[in-house]
Amino acid sequence: MIRKTTVDDCPIIDLGQIQNRAGNITVVEGNDLIPFKVKRVYYLYDVPGGAERGGHAHRKLYQLIVAASGSFDVKLDDGNLKKLVCLNRPSEGLLVKPGIWREIVNFSSGSNCLVLASELYDEKDYIRIYRKFLNYKKSNAPKV
Ligand code: TYD
Repeated sequence: MIRKTTVDDCPIIDLGQIQNRAGNITVVEGNDLIPFKVKRVYYLYDVPGGAERGGHAHRKLYQLIVAASGSFDVKLDDGNLKKLVCLNRPSEGLLVKPGIWREIVNFSSGSNCLVLASELYDEKDYIRIYRKFLNYKKSNAPKV
């Protein structure tokens, strides 16, 4: 369950690329490459230099984070271990499982952070207070 997920459960997935002289295409279709069905897509752009986004964890949501253009770093934290993942290829996605605190930093100018998500937007699914996240990961309590 989400208390047990670790940063090592969050791989970078090679999404492949259809190459063409006039540009490349990367396709995420069905459940072949990622372990969830995409219900929602959103993207972050025009992020000012030095800004940080996404300091939170989710209870149920799976996400695939893609640097559709430019680059940024994703800080992953499972309450025990931390990992910094640099994303800079549109043909790669970082799988973030439920129960992982994540922040996105070091956005390059003009970057676009594309997120494929397993659930519709639901504020109740967020854990936005880091202390609560830590308590949840470390305790046996069924709920935050
Ligand atoms: P949030 O997920 O908190 O973004 P970040 O952690 O990157 O700062 O979302 C910011 C705001 O956008 C918040 O008020 C909720 C709203 N929002 C939606 O309405 N739908 C969505 O799918 C997302 C991702 C955010």
